[in-house]
Amino acid sequence: MIRTATLEDISQICLIESECFGEDAWNRQNFLAVLASDISKLFGYEKDKEIIGYAVVTVIFDEAHLDNLAVSLENRKKGIGRQLVSYILRYLKDIEIHKITLEVRKSNTAAINLYKSLGFAIEGVRKNYYKNQEDAYIMWRYDGKKP
Ligand SMILES: CC(C)(COP(=O)(O)OP(=O)(O)OC[C@H]1O[C@@H](n2cnc3c(N)ncnc32)[C@H](O)[C@@H]1OP(=O)(O)O)[C@@H](O)C(=O)NCCC(=O)NCCS
Repeated sequence: MIRTATLEDISQICLIESECFGEDAWNRQNFLAVLASDISKLFGYEKDKEIIGYAVVTVIFDEAHLDNLAVSLENRKKGIGRQLVSYILRYLKDIEIHKITLEVRKSNTAAINLYKSLGFAIEGVRKNYYKNQEDAYIMWRYDGKKP
């Protein structure tokens, strides 16, 4: 089940976050800021009363940015990442936001494949975007025609 995450979920989310992102991981404060924000949403995937994946999206004017997405290691390749992103795409459609963008490591084949399968395309590169100097691809998805 996918639902809006709450304060009680943040510890579990932080565990998954550091397992997934190492030195680039968000800290507790980053997630608390999302909970307190009017423009960001934190959605969690709950299974057996535990959060095993989550996604963060921010809406600014008419654009959304996918800020974070992760699934715990032992729950990968079961369709959970796809369900989380699809949920966000439906949420954005409901609030009439038709453009979404994100950054992803050039080497992150799993995430790139997932995004491509849901209609995102690579439109640019941010050089040295990550702490280890790796470049990011900038991906966009448009509901309907590209403006
Ligand atoms: C990226 C991530 C969220 C995918 O979550 P997931 O639940 O394992 O993905 P899904 O099972 O929903 O897979 C959906 C699609 O993604 C792609 N994919 C997922 N894992 C893959 C892998 N290891 N290699 C290649 N493609 C992969 C495939 O296209 C897959 O579709 P398919 O099952 O029909 O082949 C997960 O790998 C993760 O948490 N990674 C670490 C954090 C991260 O990189 N987040 C994204 C930052 S931009």
